[in-house]
Amino acid sequence: MKILEALNWATTCFAKSGQENPRLDSELLLADVLGLKRVDLYLNINQDLTPQQLSQFKKFVERRIAYEPIAYIIGKTEFMGREFKITPSVFIPRPETELLVEEILKLPLTTHQSPLTIIDLGTGCGVIACSLALVLDCKIYATDISLEALFVARENAIQLDVAKRIIFIQGDLFTPLHNLQVDIIVSNPPYVPTEDWEGLPKEVKAEPRIALSGGKEGLGFYRRIIEETPRYLKDNGYLALEIGINQSQKIGSMIISTNRFSNPKMIKDYAGIDRIIIAKTR
Ligand SMILES: C[S@@+](CC[C@H](N)C(=O)[O-])C[C@H]1O[C@@H](n2cnc3c(N)ncnc32)[C@H](O)[C@@H]1O
Repeated sequence: MKILEALNWATTCFAKSGQENPRLDSELLLADVLGLKRVDLYLNINQDLTPQQLSQFKKFVERRIAYEPIAYIIGKTEFMGREFKITPSVFIPRPETELLVEEILKLPLTTHQSPLTIIDLGTGCGVIACSLALVLDCKIYATDISLEALFVARENAIQLDVAKRIIFIQGDLFTPLHNLQVDIIVSNPPYVPTEDWEGLPKEVKAEPRIALSGGKEGLGFYRRIIEETPRYLKDNGYLALEIGINQSQKIGSMIISTNRFSNPKMIKDYAGIDRIIIAKTR
């Protein structure tokens, strides 16, 4: 089978099984099997697949038809133009989180002492910590309750040559961080309300529930983070959070009611949804 034929075959299979992006999925899987960039598939459309490549591709297609996320099948994903290793033990980073990193990079941090100190709560595969460490002169404390996630995050940090700037620590939110005061606290915590879990798409439910489930109303982690943040943040420090749909008002009120922050700033995502909230300590 040639590349073009393989792509067409898989696209038809995915369209029949109801995948949202049949062509894109076919390209991502075949490019991975062949070790090519997606665009290069089209420069080699008449190249024959070896029997091993074809067999591997068919296995990938079967897994995708069963709604396994592409990132788990190929073991990687892209974030801010860089490749990150992914395993089924970790949350798959979403494009909205790139916005969170971009907003942190826009903060007026020149008056803060170097290296900047940052806590990343619930680091997952480490996309936020690694992306910040690639740009800022900083020391980052990245925590997660999941040891598997921390192993993956550490591998990503080594791969991107930022491991010396990040300390990975297992534990429940701030619990493993004693007597620490930092310039920035960032988190994209689990925020799916319990009652929404059953209705999630099958492939989202393939991700670790611990990474998604935010309890009643999806606000439990925000409540804890906002309550504990003032103890861990220096004066003029920043709290930067990614938030879920319809959560901005309640989370904004939680921040204001601590009396420890100036008015929080909301940033919308490309779909016009309040997605990032940033507050500065007074
Ligand atoms: C939505 S994922 C975000 C992962 C990553 N920061 C990102 O943006 O792609 C939430 C992460 O929080 C972690 N987590 C869940 N409960 C936690 C807790 N009590 N303490 C620390 N981390 C927790 C999960 O294991 C998961 O990696």
